[in-house]
Amino acid sequence: MDVGAWCSQSRVWVVAGKGGVGKTTITAALAATAAAVGLSVLVIELEGKHGLGTTFGRPGPVGYEAVPLRGPPPNGADRAATPPAGAIWARRLTPDDALLEYLADHGLQRVSRRLVSSGVLDVVATAIPGIRDVLVLGKVKQLERAAVADMIVLDAPATGHAMTFLTSASGLLDAARGGPVRQQAADVVELLQDSSRCRVLPVTLPEEMPVSETVESASMLEDRVGVHLGAVVVNGYEEGPAALECPTGDAARRAGTVLDPWALEAIEAAREFRLRRLRLVGEQVSRLGRELPLPQLRVPRLGTPAIGPRELDQLAAAMAHAIDALPATADTR
Ligand SMILES: Nc1ncnc2c1ncn2[C@@H]1O[C@H](COP(=O)(O)OP(=O)(O)O)[C@@H](O)[C@H]1O
Ligand SMILES: [Mg+2]
Repeated sequence: MDVGAWCSQSRVWVVAGKGGVGKTTITAALAATAAAVGLSVLVIELEGKHGLGTTFGRPGPVGYEAVPLRGPPPNGADRAATPPAGAIWARRLTPDDALLEYLADHGLQRVSRRLVSSGVLDVVATAIPGIRDVLVLGKVKQLERAAVADMIVLDAPATGHAMTFLTSASGLLDAARGGPVRQQAADVVELLQDSSRCRVLPVTLPEEMPVSETVESASMLEDRVGVHLGAVVVNGYEEGPAALECPTGDAARRAGTVLDPWALEAIEAAREFRLRRLRLVGEQVSRLGRELPLPQLRVPRLGTPAIGPRELDQLAAAMAHAIDALPATADTR
């Protein structure tokens, strides 16, 4: 499937998964994949962590004002500015940020900073569970409606919290009888359930526990919230050459080489170790395919200690390749 067409199926992409599976890295890779085919991208960082900028060679936390990760910077302090084609901007969006903007948008600019700094949100959040998530997603919905970028990618909180994050609006909708809170929750649920506007992209590792958890949480999100799962990203995927199947002794004989017994033993042990690992990976991705029938985007495990811009481009290229290999009719829901 054409990469641009795949990325344009929805404007909002929520990258979800357990902490440590590579959510932030895949968020960055997805943004880079889309930007490489000329889309404008806004990445939204919900936790104000450092990882995102580093992958683009711009270390430091992402702030409230949009910063460029790739391409030209925003023009002045225009918060409504949209990144140009092929550019990636990022901004932080905490519940406090979202509340400030909500109040400002509703004519309460003068009091909003004082209200927020007085910790009013903590009081409100205790009274209305889920309001923080609804505020944040409500802001995302507003950005989506304003079409601030061709693609808006959310680095969702780690699973556990991600489940709450995405289910809060439905919960609030059931609980709130009327008023602006209910409206905001209804708008968020509408966004989450509309596959032409929003998709969730679960990320997993090809290992037993992460696969089980991904199957469980992804299915639950589909059932409880009615979100649309775009594909599942298998991060850290590994494949070995077919030659690895051949015992070292046989391979040496075929090559007409005689190995010292100690060398033969060491190489054979390494081969078996590697083969076991690759078989486990193979088993887990097959199980994932059976239990969560979604297209898989397999992204390789890179052997580098850190992911910088060069590695990011490698991951983005792998992602584009995987998308390219999807049948054109892979997902038309
Ligand atoms: N495909 C990959 N190859 C190599 N290292 C990776 C890959 N994906 C993630 N990492 C590394 O794994 C660690 C966790 O990734 P990160 O994206 O921060 O996870 P999360 O956001 O899910 O907590 C980071 O150090 C990151 O550089
Ligand atoms: Mg992260």
